[in-house]
Amino acid sequence: MLFRSTFLYSELFLISFIRISNTLKYLFVPENDEFFDNCSNQPSNVLNIHGLFDMSHFIIRRQDDIIYMSGNSTYNWNIQPLDRVEVSFQLFKFDRIAWLQTPFGMTIRDMCPVLFDEPQYWYKYWTKYITNKDDFKGKCPDQGKNLFYEPFSLNLFIELTGLPLNGRYKVVMTAKAFSPNNEERETSICVEVEGQFERLN
Ligand SMILES: *[C@@H]1O[C@H](CO)[C@@H](O)[C@H](O)[C@H]1NC(C)=O
Ligand SMILES: *[C@@H]1O[C@H](CO)[C@@H](O)[C@H](O)[C@H]1NC(C)=O
Repeated sequence: MLFRSTFLYSELFLISFIRISNTLKYLFVPENDEFFDNCSNQPSNVLNIHGLFDMSHFIIRRQDDIIYMSGNSTYNWNIQPLDRVEVSFQLFKFDRIAWLQTPFGMTIRDMCPVLFDEPQYWYKYWTKYITNKDDFKGKCPDQGKNLFYEPFSLNLFIELTGLPLNGRYKVVMTAKAFSPNNEERETSICVEVEGQFERLN
């Protein structure tokens, strides 16, 4: 009897473990052909993608649900080389009339040293394709520095546990810079990307 109940418990444990770890896989399909959108209702010291990069030699092309990127972009943000750059990503869902914040998000307190860290999402989807990455390993590029890309396509696969994702979503990315005395610089960056999640499993 004792044996049987132990067995039952371990089996129940196993079932609930499998359910909890049953992740859902998605492909993020962007809405906008240019991929990046301005954040709405921002004061003038909050810059968009063009405040971060001069994109005039960066090509964004869409074919079906895939975005292809190539070319080069010049780092434009006027901050100081030793500044700490704090980046946050936050997922919002459009619910009938308004964008509502979801619990999915992350903040990277000091982005520059981890810009080329292999296990990170931004490495897999973006910085991996920068061919001159050795020029600024461990720190953010200086203003005016050109970033060269090998042509790549954005395949934004994500895995999540929890509620299924249906409908319109947007990811809002903000970047703030802090001086070595931890004073926030005057300008910050805000970029958003709207799209839908296509379930793959
Ligand atoms: C984004 O903002 C810039 C500058 O504030 C403006 O020139 C541009 O038209 C805006 N883009 C969109 C898609 O609204
Ligand atoms: C940057 O990219 C553009 C467009 O692909 C290209 O014409 C230009 O030569 C590139 N610049 C450099 C310095 O390689």
